[in-house]
Amino acid sequence: MEYVALSNGVKMPMLGYGVYQVPADECERCVSDALKAGYRSIDTAQSYFNEEGVGRAVAKSGIDRKELFLTSKVWVEFYGYEAAKKSVLKTLEKLQTDYIDLMLLHQPFADYFGAYRALEDLYDEGKIRAIGISNFYADRMVDMASFCRIKPMVNQVETHPFNQQAELKKWAGKYHIQVEAWAPFGEGRGNMFTNPILTEIGKKYNKTAAQVILRWHIQSGVVVIPKSTHIERMRENIDVFDFKLSEQDMAQIAALDKQTSSFFSHRDPNMVEWFAKMVEERKHQHDSSKEKKNW
Ligand SMILES: NC(=O)c1ccc[n+]([C@@H]2O[C@H](COP(=O)([O-])OP(=O)(O)OC[C@H]3O[C@@H](n4cnc5c(N)ncnc54)[C@H](OP(=O)(O)O)[C@@H]3O)[C@@H](O)[C@H]2O)c1
Repeated sequence: MEYVALSNGVKMPMLGYGVYQVPADECERCVSDALKAGYRSIDTAQSYFNEEGVGRAVAKSGIDRKELFLTSKVWVEFYGYEAAKKSVLKTLEKLQTDYIDLMLLHQPFADYFGAYRALEDLYDEGKIRAIGISNFYADRMVDMASFCRIKPMVNQVETHPFNQQAELKKWAGKYHIQVEAWAPFGEGRGNMFTNPILTEIGKKYNKTAAQVILRWHIQSGVVVIPKSTHIERMRENIDVFDFKLSEQDMAQIAALDKQTSSFFSHRDPNMVEWFAKMVEERKHQHDSSKEKKNW
């Protein structure tokens, strides 16, 4: 495993396992498989409704807590200082841990400054080892970095070969904010797993397109958290530390950039409305103590 030192010195694995869209009733099995495959960093979120499954797998694994790196994210419904603080304490309970390695604000909507102040205070109290943001485009990221007390250490954003985020990476570097890729494969959109350039590059190293993509991210200094519910793919996705892409390979992958999201823009007012509606719809799910179906 390779690690990166965040701006506060905390060591973060360059590769972890993401559990978005892993159903609550499958999450414990998936995270157990990932831990068996060698993953030590797990990325979940309050809004994935599967933090409890992560917690159970971690508890049953017997792995020393210090070897693990657990990330979760505060959902928009819990923004504002008091609600965010309470929600993080609940996440700690669900994950069955005394501290979270990285806590992010999931979206740049509603009272995110209030929520961020809660993260800062929990960081001071030692309940969170690193704090950050997610889906903050360069302008929101610089806003946050400029007006907060403790600068975000990580920004988790959509990035993959078809949306390389050169501008955001440049600004993140200026503020010592580590970029972490969500959907490092773009969830396979645009036939990424069978892209001829990526598969041709892979043939030289006896690697798949998926492995080339992850290696490209890591060599670009980006942390990755690929998701798979299949143990053989989990093994494939972590097996990326025994080869190195050449400068020419890197240049060929750079040329695949379409400079646009494969999903949606957080700046699109229609999407902001969609998020606001989703926050309302999920309220009853979070009210329940039982894990619910994923979204
Ligand atoms: N902050 C945010 O707003 C946000 C948003 C989205 C995601 N995330 C985080 O980022 C993580 C990763 O993103 P993601 O899950 O959206 O997408 P992703 O990791 O880019 O892609 C996952 C998809 O690729 C398939 N896959 C995985 N490995 C493969 C391989 N080696 N060969 C072929 N197919 C493979 C998976 O299928 P199977 O599962 O069937 O194997 C799944 O359909 C999430 O789990 C979550 O932790 C965060």
